[in-house]
Amino acid sequence: MSWRLCCSRRTDPPAPLSTPADSYVLGTHAEELERLRFQHDLWRPTAEAAWRRAGLATGARVLDLGAGPGFAALDLARQVGPEGRVLGLERSAVYVAAGQELARRAGLSQLELRQHDLLRDPLPGGPTDQPTAGFDLIWMRWVAMFLPDLEPLLAALPTALAPAGRLVLHEYVHWDTFGLHPHGAAIRRFGRAVQQSFVAAAGDPDVNRHLPSRLAAAGWRLEALTPLPVLGGQATMAAQWLERFVSVYSPQLINQGLWSAADQTEAEAEIEAAARDSGSFWVGPTVLELRASR
Ligand SMILES: C[S@@+](CC[C@H](N)C(=O)[O-])C[C@H]1O[C@@H](n2cnc3c(N)ncnc32)[C@H](O)[C@@H]1O
Repeated sequence: MSWRLCCSRRTDPPAPLSTPADSYVLGTHAEELERLRFQHDLWRPTAEAAWRRAGLATGARVLDLGAGPGFAALDLARQVGPEGRVLGLERSAVYVAAGQELARRAGLSQLELRQHDLLRDPLPGGPTDQPTAGFDLIWMRWVAMFLPDLEPLLAALPTALAPAGRLVLHEYVHWDTFGLHPHGAAIRRFGRAVQQSFVAAAGDPDVNRHLPSRLAAAGWRLEALTPLPVLGGQATMAAQWLERFVSVYSPQLINQGLWSAADQTEAEAEIEAAARDSGSFWVGPTVLELRASR
């Protein structure tokens, strides 16, 4: 496990961009958008290493499923260059608009963000979208865990992949590693409440326990299954990411009756105790990298 280096703390997020009217359990308000930006900053090196291992090259065509506001898609677009193409599919109109604005400001015409529901809309490259010859890389991170039904997507993936293409998924495999040590009894309960809330929204927090076997059964060749742990001591990016998650998601957990103001007070006291202990550290839920081809 590697300790991640410190970065400066971000300022407080602005007011919500929209009411979280869509069914994405974490919401699409401005605070969550900023959390996703910080999350991508933390995970960028890991994602880039995964793309390299999958053979991502200049001129490649990439499909980013559940792209959020396009933070990874933006990096992918820079890597494939103007000769390549990156298509990010995302259900939230707010996130699509934010990603389109990012692409416009960065002058990345090879990047397209499109509103798309993975549960309902056919994937590009399928029979209803002939012009594309398939994608060299299909990338999906922290999205399958929110899909109540994976079958339509799994069935459509092969048609969207180019003959020598790769599928790379970064999804969680072990949420129970979430914790703050040695101070975090309430934080541990928080991690369990988060998992309950994902399950209540018909998601599966540890979806990557099942995906390798389902893909193998559907004829995919599994090339890599690599655990990606994350942990960090006080003032590291990893610690800030997990601390921020507790603060952003606790109001929603309280609304759902899975967490209480008293629980939150206890969790905050643990975070304060950890801040005074230079040996304390956070551990995130473990991600599993899955790389597969046909
Ligand atoms: C945790 S975010 C991850 C975003 C991005 N993949 C990343 O790694 O930064 C999950 C994203 O999945 C999107 N999502 C959830 N269900 C979806 C669906 N049925 N179709 C398309 N996108 C979906 C959400 O709107 C959200 O943007």
